[in-house]
Amino acid sequence: MRISPAAARVNSVFEDIESSQACQLVLDANQESGRFLHYQGQRLLHFGNCSYLGLDLEPTIREAARSAIDLYGMNNSMSRTFAHIPLFEQTEAAFTENFGQPAVVTLSTTYVHLSAMPVFIAPDDAIVVDFQAHASLQMAVTLMKGYGCRVETVGHNAWKALRQRVARLSKTHEHIWYVADGVYSMFGDTIDIAAVDALMDEFPGLHLYVDDAHGAGWTGHNGSGVALDQLRHRHRTLLAFSLSKVYGCGLGGILICPNETSASQFRRTGASLIFMNPPPASMLAPALLAAQLMRTPELQQRRARLDALIRYFIAASEQRALALVDKSHTPIFFLRLGLPGDALRMGHQLLQRGFYANPVGYPAVPMRSAGLRITLTTHLHEADIDQLLDTVLALQAD
Ligand SMILES: Cc1ncc(COP(=O)(O)O)c(C=O)c1O
Repeated sequence: MRISPAAARVNSVFEDIESSQACQLVLDANQESGRFLHYQGQRLLHFGNCSYLGLDLEPTIREAARSAIDLYGMNNSMSRTFAHIPLFEQTEAAFTENFGQPAVVTLSTTYVHLSAMPVFIAPDDAIVVDFQAHASLQMAVTLMKGYGCRVETVGHNAWKALRQRVARLSKTHEHIWYVADGVYSMFGDTIDIAAVDALMDEFPGLHLYVDDAHGAGWTGHNGSGVALDQLRHRHRTLLAFSLSKVYGCGLGGILICPNETSASQFRRTGASLIFMNPPPASMLAPALLAAQLMRTPELQQRRARLDALIRYFIAASEQRALALVDKSHTPIFFLRLGLPGDALRMGHQLLQRGFYANPVGYPAVPMRSAGLRITLTTHLHEADIDQLLDTVLALQAD
């Protein structure tokens, strides 16, 4: 059967991937330590994990999932709208306390986008999406185009261009949405909240829809991330984030709403909340615990440890004159190498030397911006960073 031109472009990258032995790795069954990825009997230092605070392996979180299965079973195969277990309200209350605004839990971040946009964005609204916004956001705005919204793409963090678009669209549209990431998942740079706030001051019809999957949890007040924590115009903002990264739950997404009215409208009308199987107890119970953990001194220690590792990584890469795409204080760094084949080659050579980092290519980044994505978690040590950077430098020199 023929495939679409867009799929064919992605498929061509996969032809390289299949011969590279650097992606689609089938890992060993034992993945206990967090510091290492176990692959074909080898221990690889793990620089590809987004559980930045190490909660993925936290024993109490894992125990919460097990106990929830014992109590509620594997699955409550009935829409939340019909009936649901009390873990929904408990989990949402815990995140509401952390963020200071109502939280609604769903199966995944992508489902938050696909469900929230059709509820809060009307067909006569305009959407301006950042060029580097996550694929899940791009998918959701494409859906909104089908509903009749005017959708435009703007350069990445291009505030002057965004201002021009908003000024022009304000003449024809009462509501305009800027759709962006909080922490960008590939290059690790961030949204400029002061710039967004200034535009929202100037244009009262401007709204923000932000995905802070990689910012929530490890930074901001009680883990409220890079976006909402500093934003003044919270009442014109929707914030989505993931429970499967920092929160270590393996599944789940949250929408933070401006007020209780919006939250209950979302619960009543969001497609994934009314038509789909609800999140299982084995996800909700760990999410509740992770949300409560955000307010503990133990978590502050983990955050301090991650901050120290981020600072160490930036200093160590500067010392070695390693050209990272961006040096924002986040746990994600990206070394641009060129075409997808260059990234796959580097990924494979690192595997052979005992390291794992994500070789990333199109469509996650533009075709000629393939490279190595390096993520930091509290499982790692400073010496691990030195070893990785020295090895990357030696490979680049070859
Ligand atoms: C920024 C961002 N948003 C959304 C997603 C998708 O999350 P989910 O699997 O919860 O739908 C990801 C996944 O990696 C992501 O990096």
